[in-house]
Amino acid sequence: MTENSILCRLDDIEDGGSQRFSAEIDGKPHPLLAVRTGDRVFAYINSCPHVGAPLDFIAGKFLNAEGTHIQCANHGALFAIENGKCVQGPCVGDALEPVSTLVNDGIVYLTR
Ligand code: FES
Repeated sequence: MTENSILCRLDDIEDGGSQRFSAEIDGKPHPLLAVRTGDRVFAYINSCPHVGAPLDFIAGKFLNAEGTHIQCANHGALFAIENGKCVQGPCVGDALEPVSTLVNDGIVYLTR
């Protein structure tokens, strides 16, 4: 059986922008990052596969200047928004740990 929990309202994340969250997953709190593109939200554990540090220097800001990729503030690694794969930087070939989401009626749910 699938259990969903509410992450936020869709409007809590600017379209084309990102936000940081803390959410309980499997009974433990986890730092998350979420990126919105239209009515889709992509969420990942906020931990860079390079050295395990949070990706944001400025809280909630996770995208590169062009808004095309998630960028780690520590050493500049770039990750694809849609699948979290590192496409440039010191951890190419690794990926962010995804957290499944579902958007329904303006509410963003974490699904598992
Ligand atoms: S910690 Fe993210 S690129 Fe080094």
